[in-house]
Amino acid sequence: MGIRKVGVVGCGLMGSGIVQTAAQCGFEVKVREVSQELLAKGLSKIEGVLSGAVKKEKMTAQEKDAVMARISGTTRVEDLADCDLVIEAVNENVELKQDLWRRLDGLCPPTTIFASNTSSIPIRVQAEVTSRSDRFIGLHFFNPVPVMKLVEVIRAQTTSDATYNEAMEFSKTLGKTPVTCIDTAGFIVNRLLVPYLFDAVRALEAGIATPEDIDTGMKLGCGHPMGPLTLLDFVGLDTALAISHILYDAFGLPHYKAPKLLEKLVAEGKLGRKSGEGVYKY
Ligand code: CAA
Repeated sequence: MGIRKVGVVGCGLMGSGIVQTAAQCGFEVKVREVSQELLAKGLSKIEGVLSGAVKKEKMTAQEKDAVMARISGTTRVEDLADCDLVIEAVNENVELKQDLWRRLDGLCPPTTIFASNTSSIPIRVQAEVTSRSDRFIGLHFFNPVPVMKLVEVIRAQTTSDATYNEAMEFSKTLGKTPVTCIDTAGFIVNRLLVPYLFDAVRALEAGIATPEDIDTGMKLGCGHPMGPLTLLDFVGLDTALAISHILYDAFGLPHYKAPKLLEKLVAEGKLGRKSGEGVYKY
């Protein structure tokens, strides 16, 4: 495999998880954030997770230091110019992603693979602003990235076989199980997950049970690690809402339309765990 140096743009929830996982699997990783403050926050999150693993004796202190030594942070996009693969994990905003890819396209050699961790924005729309639509692919990770075993590998119509094969190989080297999907709204998981999460909110709106009992029902009745309302808070209500707009625009099906209660909570700034309150208070 030709991938040795991995660039990650964004060191938030998903970016920091991708950085940690790649560095733990032996890749040299450069991560770019927009400010020193956000960079320091993301890197200290990684350090904290690894320190927790050392405490639990899942890793030695020397192994942790070796992982951290493989990670370097920057605020300059230019510093990613020598990466073999660049993964973006910035906000779900089309213009933001397109601007980033245009800049990187002018900086990286034509051999560098570009991968988007988008959960909903078509790969085609991002690839077409670059001169390398054959070296462009989607790699959709799941939160928390170091723990979740899945990567959705999204093949745009222009993605070459070589790029696809390298992306599959890379995902397996990270210890993940890749699944392949065409470039369609929501890919596999969100296409199925979003209506399920929304149905749980609709059940709550209808007053069929308490949030706790809805969650316990699905946890214990179906063996899910989290109930749907806890999961919604974990994913972020604003994120779920943004994904639902894309799914509803693409398919026009009523089960992709966000429930009123979800819209209300988002309007009140109750975005889930990250804001301290969503369906539940944290
Ligand atoms: N980063 C790294 N490691 C983490 C972590 C994090 N943020 N959170 C938990 N872990 C690790 C813990 O350290 C622990 O590791 P060990 O077993 O080695 O000790 C392990 O995960 C289990 O954690 P806990 O014991 O604290 O808690 P748990 O058993 O309840 O598991 C969970 C936590 C893994 C998050 C589990 O509840 C779960 O799998 N939930 C469902 C998550 C899910 O569905 N994610 C997908 C969301 S959809 C998405 O991401 C895509 C999208 O586009 C919206």
